[in-house]
Amino acid sequence: MNNAIDLEGVCKRFPGKRGSVDALVNVTFNVAQREFIAVVGASGCGKSTLLRIIAGLMPASAGNVAINGERVQGPAPGIGIVFQTPVLLPWRTVRRNIELQLDIRKFNRGDYAQHVDALIDLVGLRGFEDRRPYELSGGMQQRVALCRALIHQPSMLLMDEPFGALDALTRETMNIEVQRIWMETRKTIVLVTHSISEAVFLADRVVVMTSRPGQVREIVPVDLPRPRTFDSMKSDTYHDAIGRVRALLNARAMTE
Ligand SMILES: Nc1ncnc2c1ncn2[C@@H]1O[C@H](COP(=O)(O)OP(=O)(O)OP(=O)(O)O)[C@@H](O)[C@H]1O
Ligand SMILES: [Mg+2]
Repeated sequence: MNNAIDLEGVCKRFPGKRGSVDALVNVTFNVAQREFIAVVGASGCGKSTLLRIIAGLMPASAGNVAINGERVQGPAPGIGIVFQTPVLLPWRTVRRNIELQLDIRKFNRGDYAQHVDALIDLVGLRGFEDRRPYELSGGMQQRVALCRALIHQPSMLLMDEPFGALDALTRETMNIEVQRIWMETRKTIVLVTHSISEAVFLADRVVVMTSRPGQVREIVPVDLPRPRTFDSMKSDTYHDAIGRVRALLNARAMTE
């Protein structure tokens, strides 16, 4: 079976009036089908750029990107993406924002009504279906964005700092939920996060990037059994992995 994602020698250079910026240099790694990968690295090291390139929203300057063995040449259909900022349409309600994904793909809303309801329950937005984005907190908006990324049942989910705006407790609950979604639906997930503990708790492997220009410094495997629970956070394996990732980052900009 093909890998879900193959990155080989991926580079990204942004040209600019005051000189160009090398955001990514020679990024090479693979993601297996149904694997959960976390990507960590200092601010500005190219994580969001990397997700956009994987999703086919932006071309690489050099190198090869393949999804399920096929070279990426434009937006890939079987991917759900949660951007760093939720980008909701202000005039649409929560439900309509989630359905936006269906409208774009010309899917029938009626066929997905139950699924929309299940997702709203899953992320704890019941009662807010008919509200508009300005009536929601930042964390709630991000949860709408998560539903929108999942509604068309993609086989791959790319998430860029999805829980950054959530309070610590809600964030931990969402981590458990994401693990549950992943275990139940067996999606391939790539999660960009600034939280070392979140990366280790969720991922099979943590890709640690260098600061700009972003390169893969090392990939740290996390051999914790599933499902992981709050008890997993007490294990030596968990703490060793956190120590390893932190040592590799060695950057004060990172938070727990
Ligand atoms: N569209 C663009 N045009 C020009 N430069 C860009 C563009 N997008 C990103 N960059 C530059 O590329 C580098 C990487 O940006 P990127 O947003 O990928 O970083 P990041 O790792 O996601 O950072 P953060 O953790 O703060 O979200 C930065 O130096 C940024 O200024
Ligand atoms: Mg980013």
